[in-house]
Amino acid sequence: MHYFDYRGGELYAEEVKVSDLAARFGTPLYIYSAATFRRHFSAFDAAFEGLAHLSCYSVKANSNICVLRLLAELGAGMDIVSGGELHRALAAGVAPRKIVYSGVGKREAEIRFALETGILMFNVESFGELERIDAVARELGKTARISLRINPDVDPKTHPYISTGLQKNKFGLDIEASFAAYQRAKELPNVVPVGIDCHIGSQLTSIEPFLEALTRIITFNERLKDIGIVIDYLDLGGGLGIPYDQETPPHPAAYGQALSERLKGRSLTVILEPGRVIAGNAGILVSEVVYTKQTKSKNFVIVDAAMNDLVRPSLYQSFHAVREVAPKGRQPVNVDVVGPICESGDFLAKDRDLAAVAPGELVALFSAGAYGFSMSSNYNSRPRAAEVIVDGDRVVLARRRETYDDLIALEGPC
Ligand code: LLP
Repeated sequence: MHYFDYRGGELYAEEVKVSDLAARFGTPLYIYSAATFRRHFSAFDAAFEGLAHLSCYSVKANSNICVLRLLAELGAGMDIVSGGELHRALAAGVAPRKIVYSGVGKREAEIRFALETGILMFNVESFGELERIDAVARELGKTARISLRINPDVDPKTHPYISTGLQKNKFGLDIEASFAAYQRAKELPNVVPVGIDCHIGSQLTSIEPFLEALTRIITFNERLKDIGIVIDYLDLGGGLGIPYDQETPPHPAAYGQALSERLKGRSLTVILEPGRVIAGNAGILVSEVVYTKQTKSKNFVIVDAAMNDLVRPSLYQSFHAVREVAPKGRQPVNVDVVGPICESGDFLAKDRDLAAVAPGELVALFSAGAYGFSMSSNYNSRPRAAEVIVDGDRVVLARRRETYDDLIALEGPC
């Protein structure tokens, strides 16, 4: 459910015409709906109210500081994977005790930053990292709260690039290695195990894999108790999918219900790390048609957004609905919607039935709020798009469009 809809033949973001925003801020333009963010976060968080829990928004999905502030105001904690994300979360006003830190390659300086900040816990992904956190904590005279990230070897049945809980993936430690790591953690003076962590993948469209992983974790937790390790937190990661096309992912309430049934009576605080389910359908990418071009085999709609703005179609063959901003009732034609970048992999949509749009018209790519801007780049020396947040009839420029000078500002002197 989101607040981008058609009224009087025009696409609106809440109370504001998308075409007005494009005229004011230019294209390509990311438009976010504050009401959608609020609605998604509140619905997600409410789904777990039967359990002691903390919803830590996954910063990587959409890390704009204005988005983070909006979520922090609703009480969100944050899931971070870098020092940069920690900086953002703190700048957004998130309490350090609501921040969890995952990732396979935490560097010493990042560990130090997180320890000095006093985050809730590190989700540790290797023996090397465990030792390093202990060493840095010792140097600082601190004790690091940690969880081991368990790789439960469960198939999340999603795109291979975003599956993380299979043995062949680089993430976490398998069950036996995790057990050994907890034993080692017990011996280390400057780390204290406070939780168990697990994240099996992203864009899951069924709750079965989550529950399969949970079953393994619960059994594992019993084994930890046997060796005198009692934890407080169960971090189940993120991963709940959203409808991009015809998918019918479970509602967070169904997930919450299933977790409550399995976890009631246990004195554990559940941590969740939702990203896409909060941000995905809270944003669109608006682009102007530059040219149309017919070849013997294809109709191309060349737009001013490209894979540097939204890489998901190129990287994961993912689907984003493309719609006219002001539909004129024309017959659809089968087209590829492509960008100006010099690669055949630069496409935003393939083989779509889209009205015969003309240069100068606007199209919107839906479900672009998560992993859209946050994965964007300057490839082909394209300044990054602007981001705006609409809140009712109020419009905030959340990030200005980059300029040509911005492109070279960090380079040289040479
Ligand atoms: N927690 C951890 C440890 C993660 O690695 C991720 C996502 C999340 C939480 C949030 O997952 P979500 O709720 O958003 O599914 N760029 C890809 C998605 C990569 C996800 C990486 N990790 C895409 O555009 O589909």
